[in-house]
Amino acid sequence: MRDLDSRPEMHTYEREVPGEAETRKTLDELIKNQQEEPRTTYRLAISIPPHETARGILKLSQQWEAIREWEVGWALHPEEWGNGYAVEAARGVMDWAFDELNVHRIVAFCHAGNSASVRVMEKLGMHQDGRLRETRWLMGQWWDEYVYSILEKEWKDLNYL
Ligand SMILES: CC(C)(COP(=O)(O)OP(=O)(O)OC[C@H]1O[C@@H](n2cnc3c(N)ncnc32)[C@H](O)[C@@H]1OP(=O)(O)O)[C@@H](O)C(=O)NCCC(=O)NCCS
Repeated sequence: MRDLDSRPEMHTYEREVPGEAETRKTLDELIKNQQEEPRTTYRLAISIPPHETARGILKLSQQWEAIREWEVGWALHPEEWGNGYAVEAARGVMDWAFDELNVHRIVAFCHAGNSASVRVMEKLGMHQDGRLRETRWLMGQWWDEYVYSILEKEWKDLNYL
């Protein structure tokens, strides 16, 4: 986990590279999440053979219980970019969420300059709900972010379920 977490490319559009203590905190949260009942956060490892350690992470978390809205997020080891793995992994988890967690909407947020992540959302069939102005403070300045979503009925129409 530290190997992934310490790679600057994994965080370019998100935040400063976490120090070791922060990775430890995330790991503690991950363990706590596994003990929740019912679970509201899943942090999943993306494994890509022949590697035996995680090559990416996928996070699925409840955003707004009343409307059954969950958020998905992704990050991959830079050596794995461009092979369709983010879409493949997200599709599997979103399929499972709509099927097993009774989810109504899945949303994803990304830095407006993160074209690879925007493309992942488009390839997943998500729609842009809007552009949130200056909601991120990074590298000494404000940045906009996009919010994308997909509804259960839209996901079903894509025939993944
Ligand atoms: C975002 C990320 C997960 C994408 O992973 P990936 O496995 O390479 O994604 P996929 O291969 O499934 O799809 C990427 C798509 O974006 C496109 N793409 C990649 N880099 C791009 C860029 N700089 N500009 C425009 N499109 C880009 C790819 O060509 C591909 O589209 P295509 O299949 O139509 O050609 C990966 O880049 C990453 O881990 N980035 C760092 C962490 C991060 O930013 N996470 C998102 C936080 S919101």
